[in-house]
Amino acid sequence: MTELYRAMLVRRLGSPEVLELAELPRQPLRPGEVRIAVRAAGVNFPDILQVAGDYQHKPPLPFVPGFEAAGEIIETAADVTGWRTGDAVLLRTAASYAEELVAPAAALLPKPAGWSWAEAAGFPVCASTAWIALLWRGRLARGETLLVLGAGGGTGLAAVTLGAQTGAQVIAVASSAEKRAAAQQAGATLCIDPASKGWEKSVQADVVFDPVGGEIFPTAWRALKPGGRWLVVGFAGGGIPRPQANRLLLKEAELIGVRAGEQARRVPAAAKAMDQGLRDWLVGSQGGRPLIAGIYRLEEAAAGLRQLADRKATGKLVLQPG
Ligand SMILES: NC(=O)c1ccc[n+]([C@@H]2O[C@H](COP(=O)([O-])OP(=O)(O)OC[C@H]3O[C@@H](n4cnc5c(N)ncnc54)[C@H](OP(=O)(O)O)[C@@H]3O)[C@@H](O)[C@H]2O)c1
Repeated sequence: MTELYRAMLVRRLGSPEVLELAELPRQPLRPGEVRIAVRAAGVNFPDILQVAGDYQHKPPLPFVPGFEAAGEIIETAADVTGWRTGDAVLLRTAASYAEELVAPAAALLPKPAGWSWAEAAGFPVCASTAWIALLWRGRLARGETLLVLGAGGGTGLAAVTLGAQTGAQVIAVASSAEKRAAAQQAGATLCIDPASKGWEKSVQADVVFDPVGGEIFPTAWRALKPGGRWLVVGFAGGGIPRPQANRLLLKEAELIGVRAGEQARRVPAAAKAMDQGLRDWLVGSQGGRPLIAGIYRLEEAAAGLRQLADRKATGKLVLQPG
């Protein structure tokens, strides 16, 4: 094993182009930890925000971005049980834009046989977000109607997949024919172009999954049923909607904030239920694989982030070192 590994480093906050390739020294493992050779790292919208300094979690500079990965265990701390060198795993983590990372063994999920490294790396963040949003916070039930905004993006496609698996009728809103086709493939029964005038009049949803916010909010709000639940997942559209309380009153609606990672950290029962839910998802359904929009080399991370920021990814982008 070499003592140095390559990683993409943020030395100053800014646009994706601030990312620099660097060599970092390997740190010794602490109890409960494993070292993983990263085969692929998922690219997520929050990476763009974190590199720019606009994300909730602001690690001290310099830092390695990236919130998920898949790879092979190359070292375990002496007290780790249940995992061995050579095991193929995937995980939510920090600092995944690297050839190696160190993580608690408790964070690992087994990589399903037959999934590519890219598919495994693209799974945990969006799947856990969809799971916490729809099933834990949103209480989505079989037979309900789910409206997914940004349905061709990472979290959107995961929500379509999980919603369909749950037995909901899924309606997808996405801006391009390619994104709508991907949403239909993932289980949406109706796919809508948000540019089509008056689309919201044809929909009555029990639950809305909203990772977009911004300009689509007032229009899409009309598609929420009386008594419905609106899941505030993110603001990829740039603007933060300002819903008026009287609108909530008139519809007797619930506006529900979703922070998947924070919910799992703060509420042990949520973490436990989500862990089981994701294991079932990984084992149970070949159709639950994320759609891979593109693969970049580790040193091309800025180009990957740029593609995501430009709204040009259908599904997940990943980085592959080596
Ligand atoms: N709450 C949580 O726990 C959690 C977890 C993960 C991510 N998030 C947040 O969820 C949001 C979406 O993440 P994601 O991974 O799904 O991102 P993504 O893959 O980039 O998808 C976002 C979708 O938003 C739509 N969009 C509309 N305006 C956009 C714009 N100006 N720039 C980019 N996209 C735009 C696009 O769909 P159309 O082209 O079809 O409009 C795009 O496909 C982000 O704000 C992220 O921070 C939240």
